[in-house]
Amino acid sequence: LTYERYPVQRLPFSKVSEEDMATFQRIIPGRVITDPEELEACNVDWLKTVRGCSKVLLKPRTSEEVSSILRHCHERNLAVNPQGGNTGMVGGSVPVFDEVILSTALMNQVISFHNVSGILVCQAGCVLEELSHYVQEHDFIMPLDLGAKGSCHIGGNVATNAGGLRFLRYGSLRGTVLGLEVVLADGTILNCLTSLRKDNTGYDLKQLFIGSEGTLGVITAVSILCPPRPKAVNVAFLGCPGFAEVLQTFTTCKAMLSEVLSAFEFMDAECMQLVRQHLHLASPVQESPFYVLIETSGSSAEHDAEKLGSFLEQVLGSGLVTDGTMATDQKKIQMLWALRERITEALSHDGYVFKYDISLPVERLYDLVTDLRTRLGSSAKHVVGYGHLGDGNLHLNVTAEAFSEALLGILEPYVYTWTAEQRGSVSAEHGVGFKKRHVLGYSKPPVAVQLMQQLKALLDPKGILNPYKTLPAQA
Ligand code: FAD
Ligand code: MLT
Ligand code: ZN
Repeated sequence: LTYERYPVQRLPFSKVSEEDMATFQRIIPGRVITDPEELEACNVDWLKTVRGCSKVLLKPRTSEEVSSILRHCHERNLAVNPQGGNTGMVGGSVPVFDEVILSTALMNQVISFHNVSGILVCQAGCVLEELSHYVQEHDFIMPLDLGAKGSCHIGGNVATNAGGLRFLRYGSLRGTVLGLEVVLADGTILNCLTSLRKDNTGYDLKQLFIGSEGTLGVITAVSILCPPRPKAVNVAFLGCPGFAEVLQTFTTCKAMLSEVLSAFEFMDAECMQLVRQHLHLASPVQESPFYVLIETSGSSAEHDAEKLGSFLEQVLGSGLVTDGTMATDQKKIQMLWALRERITEALSHDGYVFKYDISLPVERLYDLVTDLRTRLGSSAKHVVGYGHLGDGNLHLNVTAEAFSEALLGILEPYVYTWTAEQRGSVSAEHGVGFKKRHVLGYSKPPVAVQLMQQLKALLDPKGILNPYKTLPAQA
């Protein structure tokens, strides 16, 4: 797959030898995996759009083991692909050729949690949903949530600087991650695993690794600030007659719900059609061109319900919203969230998915979807728009029976030039990985890309960490 669709040549790294295997066995006895079935799962991405051919999967438990592995790979010039839950959307999590896969699957221990500060320190391989359950027992929540929570690792979240469903309220991982432990390409352990809210001693090195997608170091532990668990959570799921009304609903929502607003997500009618068709989820409201999911989180159920009540009265009364439903109990809340969270899964059942994850001025968020529907006509199965409207983040997805060069030719570079013209970002939250490395220039000037390349050369002079990813191929 990889070779045909994306022209790329293997760089002159060494090949894993019998001696290398013996060394790995010495470092992590019994955790050097060569079983073809297990390797197959780690060589193919979640979307099933790229495939590597690695013959070895390593499962360290400790940072020291990661350090010994990298020291050896560095000495031997062996390329390494760090992998978390393998839920990434841009082909960054799987090897391109025969890179050694370094998985954090067994690095799943909580190191500490402080009840007063809400600061959690844990290993990089902890699964996000398990961390959520863990901190919930202490009356806290994780500052991020995403549809992939059942599989993705916190290290993978940090490595991709994942956004997700709580970004509107709790902000970026660049603010909530307080410290990191990272193993550098040559095996050096960089311990910046502090738990301080404020620390202005020199450059904030951890920021370099947040969103670096495994190209600058392997994240082995994370210190993260968790917010207290909101006592009252409400979800409203509403139907809107047009995108202009979606925007006005958002404005009204910010004005009337202000401090209790915790999510504002949107999806179009075609998304609803796909979750119904492929996942058998029924819409709880009348059919509408657009749907929005609004969540409030606060400390007083009565206060929040009152606010939400007057907001709903206002938007229903003014025709911004034509139908709606509300949930306060956990079961219905989850049912409403599933309609939005599971769009990705529904799309994957629809055929080959061309996936775009774009930041735009919110007023223009849906124009590209409408525009592409016209451009593509009947050559696509579906053209859908959904996403984190509150963050100006559109997920534009196009499905087809199978991958098609012709369809790709209509989509690209059109989508990227369109985005660049609005001064948007060609990757809002999924990262660059393998599939978007050639489009970095649409959102970053040459000087920035060059500086990124210099940083890469400084931290990983042999280029062994996740080669072929994130940065454009050098001429
Ligand atoms: P992987 O996929 O394994 O890896 C991703 C990248 O990080 C790769 O480049 C890999 O090399 C690197 N990496 C992984 N672990 C480490 C480490 N310890 N050290 C260094 N590098 C590492 N993303 C969003 O931003 N918002 C969403 O709302 C969202 N929803 C999703 C919903 C679904 C159903 C799915 C399948 C994906 C979704 N994603 C979303 C994509 C998102 O990037 C990932 O889910 C997640 O952040 C990646 O974590 P992971 O552990 O699976 O990492
Ligand atoms: C989402 O918001 O659902 C995710 O980012 C995944 C996707 O874009 O499909
Ligand atoms: Zn998203």
